[in-house]
Amino acid sequence: MRIVDLRSDTKTMPSAQMRMAIAEAELGDADEGEDPTVNKLEAMAAQRLGKEAAILVSSGTQGNMTAVLSQCARGKSVIVGKNTHINLGEAGGLASIAGVSLHALQNTSSGSLDADEVTSSINLTSKDWPETGMISLENTQNLEGGLALNQGQLKIIADIAHDHDLPFHIDGARLFNAAVHLGVSADELVLDADTVTFCLSKGLAAPVGSVLCGTEETIAEARRWVKYLGGSMRQAGIIAAAGIVALESMVERLADDHENAQRLATGLQSIIGFKVDPENVQTNILFAHLEGNDGSQLAAAINERGIRFYDLGELGWRFVTGYGITSDDIDHALDVVETTVREFREGRITVSVSNAPSRL
Ligand SMILES: Cc1ncc(COP(=O)(O)O)c(C=O)c1O
Repeated sequence: MRIVDLRSDTKTMPSAQMRMAIAEAELGDADEGEDPTVNKLEAMAAQRLGKEAAILVSSGTQGNMTAVLSQCARGKSVIVGKNTHINLGEAGGLASIAGVSLHALQNTSSGSLDADEVTSSINLTSKDWPETGMISLENTQNLEGGLALNQGQLKIIADIAHDHDLPFHIDGARLFNAAVHLGVSADELVLDADTVTFCLSKGLAAPVGSVLCGTEETIAEARRWVKYLGGSMRQAGIIAAAGIVALESMVERLADDHENAQRLATGLQSIIGFKVDPENVQTNILFAHLEGNDGSQLAAAINERGIRFYDLGELGWRFVTGYGITSDDIDHALDVVETTVREFREGRITVSVSNAPSRL
């Protein structure tokens, strides 16, 4: 059976060039700062994002966690969007490990936060409410359909943070998707951020790793926290080598993933019963809604036929394009979706819901 895996860009496989780079990487003890390939990746990442320093970490979750641990004391709270990965997808680790609470605000239609609401949510005086310690936005925004925030939108929230002497963090797991969509360089997008995490292992297709960027001082602090978390690695050049290839050769091609998402959205829109808004599909993520009550059964049926995506209930069906997914795969996926929906509606197939994947 032909499989088209549209569950996530975390499913992307490393390119042949990455595999070569991994095999040939010059290595050392990264924990001691002696791995030349890690050092090169960190310097590249910092330069690319216009920050003083960077640290390679194991995952986006560890990058976000470390950004918080390095800048926000226990007992404080972080203002975030309700639909962010930090709020919904990181297992509550910030509460259990960093000892911070999350103050989650409704995302606006652009996916950002309402400036007045952010300002009125900051608490620096009352002893009864958690003291605000940080503000964070996500870019692009996974559960907001991959919407990209531009520098102006980010600056509004960053300015509020800085006016209150609070650090501003960007979870830029897919920052380069935002930059490619907006036609700007990534450093321009994070100009006002104190720290930024971006992932090497999503659209950029490296097998492992994320990078946290910030000032020399914050990243020095982050190194200590990563050590506490057991995340300080040794010959991590084998990870960094793929990350270097990712930064050098996988950024511009993200435009292909965006085109494929657009192709999918346009195709789904023409299938009876689907609600998709191609105009709001900016990057590589799209959500589709199906009229009626049989969505979960249909999702299972389509997944069983090899078109993999997540059924996220009320949020809709989430499809994500990435390296390795071609326009022909999208056409095939559309064919299978169209046929399955038609056969299901005609009562020609029955399915159980047990196979519909529903993770983030
Ligand atoms: C927006 C966002 N931030 C952070 C993460 C966490 O990345 P990781 O899975 O590498 O921990 C994800 C993962 O999907 C994500 O979508």
